[in-house]
This record gives sequence, C-alpha cells and structure tokens, in this order.
Amino acid sequence: MYAPEKQKELYELSKALLHKNTSDTGQNLPNFVQQLRACIQYHEWRYYILNQPVLSDFEFDQLFKRLQQTELEHPELIDPNSPTQRVSNGLTEAFETVRHLTPTLSLDNSYNADDLNGFDERVKKLIEEEDKNKAIEYCVEPKFDGGTIVLIYENDRLVRAATRGNGAQGDEITLNAKAIRSIPLQANFSAFGIQKVELRGEVLIRKDLFEQVNSSRSKKGEALFANPRNAATGGLRLKDPKQVQERALDAFIYQMGYAVDDLGNDVLMKFKNHNAQIELLAQVGFKVPTLGQERALCANIEAVAAHCQKWQETRDDYPFEIDGMVVKVNDLELQDLCGYTSHHPRWAIAFKFKAKQATTKLLSVDYQVGRTGAVTPVARLQAVELAGATISNVSLHNADFIQEKDIRIGDTVLVERAGDVIPYIVKSMEDLRDGTESVVVYPNTCPVCSSKLHKPESEAVWRCVNHQCEAQIVGRMSHFVSKNAMNIDGFGEAYIERFYKEGLLSSMADIYRLNYDTIAFFEGFGQKSADNLRSAIEVSKKNPAYRLLYALGIRHIGQTNSKILVAEVEKLQDLQHWSEEQLCALGDIGPIVAKQVVDNFGQAATIELLDTLELLGVNCSRLDSEKKQIIAEDAVLAGKTIVFTGTLQKMKRSEAKQMVLDAGGKAVGSVSAKLSYLVAGEKAGSKLKKAQDLGVSILSEDEFLAMINA
Ligand code: IVH
Repeated sequence: MYAPEKQKELYELSKALLHKNTSDTGQNLPNFVQQLRACIQYHEWRYYILNQPVLSDFEFDQLFKRLQQTELEHPELIDPNSPTQRVSNGLTEAFETVRHLTPTLSLDNSYNADDLNGFDERVKKLIEEEDKNKAIEYCVEPKFDGGTIVLIYENDRLVRAATRGNGAQGDEITLNAKAIRSIPLQANFSAFGIQKVELRGEVLIRKDLFEQVNSSRSKKGEALFANPRNAATGGLRLKDPKQVQERALDAFIYQMGYAVDDLGNDVLMKFKNHNAQIELLAQVGFKVPTLGQERALCANIEAVAAHCQKWQETRDDYPFEIDGMVVKVNDLELQDLCGYTSHHPRWAIAFKFKAKQATTKLLSVDYQVGRTGAVTPVARLQAVELAGATISNVSLHNADFIQEKDIRIGDTVLVERAGDVIPYIVKSMEDLRDGTESVVVYPNTCPVCSSKLHKPESEAVWRCVNHQCEAQIVGRMSHFVSKNAMNIDGFGEAYIERFYKEGLLSSMADIYRLNYDTIAFFEGFGQKSADNLRSAIEVSKKNPAYRLLYALGIRHIGQTNSKILVAEVEKLQDLQHWSEEQLCALGDIGPIVAKQVVDNFGQAATIELLDTLELLGVNCSRLDSEKKQIIAEDAVLAGKTIVFTGTLQKMKRSEAKQMVLDAGGKAVGSVSAKLSYLVAGEKAGSKLKKAQDLGVSILSEDEFLAMINA
C-alpha cells in the first residue's frame, strides 16, 4: 500500500511531528493537521493490518493526542474521517435499515472431497468448457466465523457500513465500523479509477482477546460469551461505539461486490480475477486473507481438497475462529458464466469443517469412581456428532463445576470439542428450560461400595476412601496395564473387570499369575487370544523400572517424577530408605511428592508387592538407559525452556523434544514471558503471536537446529 519511499517519508515526518511544536510547523494549521492524519493512518496500517508497528505505543499516542488537541482548539478543522473520529460520542438509539447495493448472498456448503468434486463438475458444466478436462483455477480462503459487514466507500471515504441482515437489507452500523481499527476510514480507490465501491468482509475477535474479554466480564459479574462469534456479532450491534473499540474487533475483507467509476460505469470486471481484486484491497490498506498465508490459488479441485484438509487439521492454531474454507472460481469471466441462484453464487462453495459445537440433551448423570477413589460425575447425553466423533458422555469434573454452570438434568446443553481437547459442556441453554429439569443431587456415599464420601476443605473432589472398593481395585489394575504404564497390549479395562469378577485377579501381582488355560475357555476368548495376552504380559516384564513405578499409581507420581526418582536408585525397593528431606534435596521433587513417596514406600505392602513382582520376573531395577543424565552446565540449552509451535517440517515433535532434552533444556507447552525460545514451524498461530507480544526470542526450525548443532 505504501511504497518504501513513502513509508520512509511518513516515518521521518512522524518523528519530526513528535518533536516539533505546533508553532514551529509553518503555521499552516490545515497542513499540519493533514500531515498528522496521514502519519496516524500510516501507523494504524502498520499496527492493525500488518502487525508490524514502527512507532512505540507511546509515540503513537503522542501523535494521536497532538491531533486531538489541535482539533479541539480548532473545531473547524474536524473531518468525520479523521482518525480521532473513530469513536463518536453519544449512543445509537436504533439502527436504521439500509439496502445493500448488491445482495449479500449465502454460500452453498460442502463437507468432503466428493462434494468438492461435484462442485467442480457443476462449474465445468456451467461454463460449457469444450475441454471438460481442463482444470479450473480456484482461490481458497478461510471462512471466517464472525459477523458479516458490508462497507461502502465513496470518493475514497468510508461512507456507510451495514450488517448482512436478510441479505438485501441490513442495519446501518457506520459508527461502530469506524471504531474498528482495521477498517480504513479512507482508502485510495480513485487511483484505480473507482469512485464508489461496496465491500464485504467479516468482523472477528482474536481468540486470545476473546478469552480476555470473557475473563474481564467474569470479574465484573457480566454474562460470558459462548464463543468468539457471539462476541464479534454482539460487538457490531453495541449502542456505544466506545465499547466497540474496547472489544478489540478486527475485520477481514474478502469480496468486492460493486465498483463504479466517475461516470457510473461498472469497473468490477476490469480485474481479471478475484485474486487481483483482493490484492487491490490489500494495496489500499485493507486487512485481507494474505496470499501464501490465508489465501491460496489452487490449480485444480484436488489441490483445493488437500488445502482444505490441511486447514481443517490446523485450524486450532490459527488466531481467529474459522468454520471452514471458501472456494471461489478465480477468473471473473468464468464466475459470470456460472451465475447465481437466489441463494448463493454458483461459482463459490463453502467447505465446512466438522462442527466443534452442538447442542444436545443431558439425559442423566452417573458417577464414576477412579483408581484414587475420586468420584467424577459424568453426563450421559443424547448422542451428538461433533467434529467427526459421536459424543454421548462428557465429564462434569466435580460438584463445583455443576453448581457454577447450573447444569440440570433434562437441560439442553452446548457441547464443544476443539482439536484434541476432550469434549466439554460450555453451558446450559437456560432459555430452553420448560420446568421439567431437575437439579443434580450429588451423592454422599460411594456409588460402588456405599462407603461415605470425603472431601478435604482445600480440594474440589469428593473421594471414596475405601482402598478395597471394587472400582478402585479395577481402576488401579487398569492403570497398571495402560499404555504409559506397563503398556500391556490388548489388555484393557474390560478384561480387567471380567477377570476380577471371575476371581482370576485381585492384585497387581495376579496379572503375572494368570491362568491362561482357564482364560482360553472363556466365552469369546480361545487359545489364540489367551496366547497373545500371555506374550504381551511377558514382554512387559522387561520394561524399564520407571514404568513400573508409574504403574503403581501413587498420587502425584506421574511419568516425569517416576523417571526422576528411578534415576536415583538401583532398585525401586530402595526408595523405602529415602527421607522427605533427601528427596526434596534432589531439586526436581517437591514436598508433596516427597511425602507421597515416603508414605507409600514406608508401607510393607508396597515393598511386598514389588518383591513379589520381582520374583514373578518383573524388572524392578534401574536400566542403564535410566541412569541420571549428567547435563554439563555449559550444555547449549542448560536451564532453557522451549516451546514448539506450528507444523514442523524438519523433525517430528517427539524428536524435537528429545533434542531439547539432550541439549540440557526443557520442552514446555505454554508461552510465558519467562520462556527462553519459541520455535515456529509453518502456520504458527496464537502461540507465536503471544511470544512476539511478550518479546520472547523466536527461532525458525533451521535456527533451532543450528543452535543445537544438529
Ligand atoms: S465470499 C456471495 N468469503 O460466510 C457470497 N464469504 O455462509 C460470497 N464468509 O455470509 C461470500 N468468510 O459472510 C466469502 N472468505 C470468505 C468468507 C465468507 C466468511 C461468510 C460470509 C457469508 C457466509 C456464507
């Protein structure tokens, strides 16, 4: 948008204006005001569109205040498109209904590669291509999930903004649009022979800012937004533009729907393709889906499908909420040949991602008792399809969660499943209650063994404290055989429960004393399954000792602590000789964990169990590979923490993490100001942004590899 020379000029002018007094500037006040506005517009573009400010916030504020002050002293110089006029005083009484210059249509939907192929075939038919095999070029962009906005610029000025409304007419929200910093108040369309233009885009809130908005609302006791879309669409309809600005909304522009020159001639078709239209919008200062980042040109429908698939997998890393991709025939003449239905263009289609949120009925609440006795309420739901999986149970965590969210049996609930996150209930839809719902009554006895439940004051969880509770015994054994513990292939909770009921299993040691002849006769088993189970159990005997320690299921002794502890002893049983002080002196073990180790290894039963397992052939001794790694103090990453984000091209995540460990560092999950480095792969999203904001050092994959000399 700004040529390098122009940028240099505006930058230097800004610095000069910052240091000069109004009176030094040649007394030509209109000119001074003009210069300030040009500079501020340039810095808004660097900040809100490019995300690359060149002035500090303080300097920008100084420039802005100087303009405000001058306009205050000389009201005759105020212009409605001055950057100071983004937020007008006063409230909007009611939004006026206005007609769009061209109707804002919807999009047809597709859900998979077959649907996309069908679309491609329809397009080819519509344009009656002689050579049906000739590929059509498509432009693919994210389908932003916010509120649609329709902007009109006339003589380079924003003159009107409206919501989508019913497609033909929407609500006039110009004052609110002006409060959104990524919507330019002025744009140099005339340089391209455009006198009047109608643009469409989507108003959004960045996911991390959405979290902040919600947390500040929660502090003020205000109702929370269910999702970023509601925060954005609600923002467009606020009566007070000041509040719109506080909500930190953003706007991506993705379509030019109408454009005429001075004589009123249609100039839309002067552009060869959609891509060129979007490029022009970028040039005159709009935030658009950037080519190579959000926007892609695909040579054929197969490339489109692959691109959509890739975005579906990484959508959670993108800083804004998107609910699919939009596929558009790039060539405008071909678009014209395709035409429109009354509902949607025939040259475009939405590729919808699998829904992340859905509503369903909460049928009942069951209580599960885990291996530590923790009682977890589980909501049984009417089955619902969510992001490609059928969900019929979700955890309700604990009694406080149910109470805080006022979740009742019979409620319609909003369920969400984002990325790899376990599905959870966002909220109950209170307005859909009809009075038949019932409050969840938390039990005070264990649903399995009927003993009384306990809850320490400081904890949120109720527990069954009967160590012999069947649910706990089965839970402990299921944990013992699980993947991260002894990793006994094919041995799951269902078998454990069955063998327990049949009297074959009552302690962990029994796992290594199973009678396979009996098992082979069980219904649905047979010799082969029994043999497979036997070999999986045999293999597990040779596991490194840290797995066995973790498998014991002692509270607070997870995989990491297990590895730390094993590195200190020859044999697991040796842990009985350690005191809390000695354990804490290791540095990596805290007092809570130390107490657990001492309490558990102080019990004869723990040592007896380990001795028995050892007699049965299970390894209890530290392997060489588990010895404490001596990290030299001068190791490249000694004392450093690293986060990996985005798609890594040169290494797998697990390899990368191992490299960090080997170099003496720690790979961690979340970004904080204390983080040493963030390694950004392709399509790095909110973590990268946060790291940049916090001033954390950012490395490319190559830089990381070079740093550790890999
Ligand atoms: S193009 C003629 N591109 O999705 C319609 N729409 O369900 C052309 N949307 O209301 C629309 N991102 O507001 C287009 N990159 C994008 C979009 C997009 C989001 C919205 C749009 C429309 C809805 C259709």
